[in-house]
Amino acid sequence: MLLLQFFPFLHILTVLTFSGSPVFASAPSGLWSKFIYAPASRVVYPQAVRKTVGSVHNADSLLSPADGFNNRGAALSGNESWVTLDFGIEVGGLVTMRINSASSSSGLALSFTESPLFISPTTSDDSTYPSANMSYDGVLHLTEPLTEGVWTQPTSTLRGGFRFLTIVSTSQSETTISNVSVEISFMPHVEDMRNYSGYFYAKDPVFHDQDFLTKIWYSGAYTVQTNTVPVNTGRQVPFVSSPGWQNNATLGLAGPIIVDGAKRDRAVWPGDMGVAVPTQFVSTNDLLPTKNALSTLFSYMDPLTGALPESGPPLLQMGSDTYHMWTLIGVHNYFLYSGDTAWLEDLWANYTKAVGFVLGKVDSSGLMNVTGLRDWARLGGGGHNAEGNALLYKVLIDSADLAIHINQTSLGETWSVNASSLKTKFNEAFWLPSAGMYRDNTTTTLCPQDANSMAVLYNLTTSAAQASSVSEGLTRNWNELGAIAPELPDTISPFIGSLELQAHFVSGNDERAMDLLRREWGYMLYTNLSVQSTLLEGYTANGSIWYLLLARSQ
Ligand SMILES: *[C@@H]1O[C@H](CO)[C@@H](O)[C@H](O)[C@H]1NC(C)=O
Ligand SMILES: *[C@@H]1O[C@H](CO)[C@@H](O)[C@H](O)[C@H]1NC(C)=O
Ligand SMILES: *[C@@H]1O[C@H](CO)[C@@H](O)[C@H](O)[C@H]1NC(C)=O
Ligand SMILES: *[C@@H]1O[C@H](CO)[C@@H](O)[C@H](O)[C@H]1NC(C)=O
Ligand SMILES: *[C@@H]1O[C@H](CO)[C@@H](O)[C@H](O)[C@H]1NC(C)=O
Ligand SMILES: *[C@@H]1O[C@H](CO)[C@@H](O)[C@H](O)[C@H]1NC(C)=O
Ligand SMILES: *[C@@H]1O[C@H](CO)[C@@H](O)[C@H](O)[C@H]1NC(C)=O
Ligand SMILES: *[C@@H]1O[C@H](CO)[C@@H](O)[C@H](O)[C@H]1NC(C)=O
Ligand SMILES: *[C@@H]1O[C@H](CO)[C@@H](O)[C@H](O)[C@H]1NC(C)=O
Ligand SMILES: *[C@@H]1O[C@H](CO)[C@@H](O)[C@H](O)[C@H]1NC(C)=O
Ligand SMILES: *[C@@H]1O[C@H](CO)[C@@H](O)[C@H](O)[C@H]1NC(C)=O
Ligand SMILES: *[C@@H]1O[C@H](CO)[C@@H](O)[C@H](O)[C@H]1NC(C)=O
Repeated sequence: MLLLQFFPFLHILTVLTFSGSPVFASAPSGLWSKFIYAPASRVVYPQAVRKTVGSVHNADSLLSPADGFNNRGAALSGNESWVTLDFGIEVGGLVTMRINSASSSSGLALSFTESPLFISPTTSDDSTYPSANMSYDGVLHLTEPLTEGVWTQPTSTLRGGFRFLTIVSTSQSETTISNVSVEISFMPHVEDMRNYSGYFYAKDPVFHDQDFLTKIWYSGAYTVQTNTVPVNTGRQVPFVSSPGWQNNATLGLAGPIIVDGAKRDRAVWPGDMGVAVPTQFVSTNDLLPTKNALSTLFSYMDPLTGALPESGPPLLQMGSDTYHMWTLIGVHNYFLYSGDTAWLEDLWANYTKAVGFVLGKVDSSGLMNVTGLRDWARLGGGGHNAEGNALLYKVLIDSADLAIHINQTSLGETWSVNASSLKTKFNEAFWLPSAGMYRDNTTTTLCPQDANSMAVLYNLTTSAAQASSVSEGLTRNWNELGAIAPELPDTISPFIGSLELQAHFVSGNDERAMDLLRREWGYMLYTNLSVQSTLLEGYTANGSIWYLLLARSQ
């Protein structure tokens, strides 16, 4: 259900005119331009042959597409002979190739994977469902008999994210192919995917790669681009039965729309947007996908209670107080970055109702009792929970700010008062002096990564010393690959980690933040288990790319 990245320093070329409406401009080209991962053309070709098995001849010809008509192409024969092509970066879309020659008994199948660990002639990496056997998706068989000429993948079998494409011969007969390409499906509304409005360039004087900071900035930006998809390319729910996958579900009211992950879930998840949208703002300033996602979530608000869905359609899961609040935070982010007053005014009645939904969960203790328990995969999280209350504080502060912008001053003042009293209760209930951190709830001494990061970032701390104490305490969860979340054991979550990263900066511990950045984001960027161009939703403490081992609910 999530991903990714961080947003460091702003270089935004959005100029406010005297009338207050934004004027968009492109980033200049410069030393940073070569770090943009997004390809110059929507049609991309393999950059390398990763592997061949069995009888495969002339595989390298697939790297010279222009010669497609001039050579015989690559020849595959024999059951389970295969070639794996490497696109060099994360891509996603539909494969096209030319079948130069095929006999009546020829057969071909395709498999896809992000990680090279899952290169296989019999299955793709899991995108439909994270099955224990990791063989849920299987391969895409081309309809037989094969027809000579250009073949394009059926749209419903779109693969949203992969780096490696494996082409498998499934019969003894020889088949020759050429000109294998992928037409990228993300960022459908943009002609030039490299036309950023922000840019970033800095040398890291300490790290083994001095371009690390620049690379990680562009990697976060590209991750968000791969998550910006056409509205009719969502994962089908109910999930198709194994083997198979289907990405032709409708994701919302309008497209393009921002989803949580290119490969999966391919659905709107507002928690992920908490990190993705600031990234989107500073890089491409492409806010339409966010507006569409937020409008979609509000259109599914429960008219009786004001509860918002945890995820967009077709999943449309309900029952998450924290994701309800992430949607409200998303409204503030979107308004802050866009100044879209008309949209906010149109939403306002629903927005206030949705704020009322969570305020209504504040009980006589003065704290919110979290009862919608679904969350970012962490364990626990119910009752008088620190993360839920930290998010409520952020929602109240943001809502008070929004209210001022649309002249609802007295409502804004009420929310401000509610925020102040919540801050007091939060510190009374959750501060654990013996740890110098906040505890998860009133019946535990576990000090979670999420609430402690949020407490600093959202200013629930009451002094600089307290914020620094939390920042220091968080380092006790680190190993060489990142920050392990005590509330989801054995797991490194870049979503929550990105909040921690900001908390170190906000508390004035810049060196500590840079240290975490190099460990966690450095691992994600450089590990050869991943795609070395986009970032991860999660991994285990030892760097294995598994996530949700404990809570395989997505
Ligand atoms: C780049 O994007 C800006 C908006 O941010 C747009 O005005 C401009 O036309 C785009 N340029 C190209 C070459 O697509
Ligand atoms: C190769 O495929 C691309 C994408 O479908 C197409 O535009 C191009 O014309 C093809 N080239 C040849 C030589 O067939
Ligand atoms: C190809 O190999 C697979 C796996 O070994 C086997 O299940 C299948 O029957 C074989 N097909 C043919 C046509 O030989
Ligand atoms: C993998 O597990 C799924 C259930 O999660 C099952 O439907 C499928 O048949 C299994 N695939 C293989 C190849 O065993
Ligand atoms: C999705 O694709 C499948 C397979 O082509 C098709 O049966 C189904 O009707 C499509 N669904 C939608 C919503 O387009
Ligand atoms: C407000 O919520 C209702 C459902 O309660 C929904 O039908 C409507 O589309 C929403 N309006 C906006 C602008 O979000
Ligand atoms: C309180 O926190 C602990 C530690 O995170 C957790 O195990 C427990 O389930 C939480 N209680 C509730 C009601 O969620
Ligand atoms: C929160 O509300 C639930 C459901 O009403 C209740 O069972 C639980 O005891 C409450 N938790 C606290 C800490 O009051
Ligand atoms: C708020 O009030 C000010 C002063 O009356 C007015 O200029 C502004 O347009 C109002 N803003 C909105 C969103 O109604
Ligand atoms: C919010 O503040 C208002 C005004 O002081 C008060 O009436 C209301 O009870 C407060 N709500 C909560 C949940 O604290
Ligand atoms: C943090 O909260 C305190 C009140 O507790 C306030 O004085 C201070 O201005 C806030 N800081 C920021 C950056 O909002
Ligand atoms: C990753 O790199 C290590 C060290 O060079 C190597 O042993 C390993 O085989 C590589 N793994 C993959 C999946 O490429």
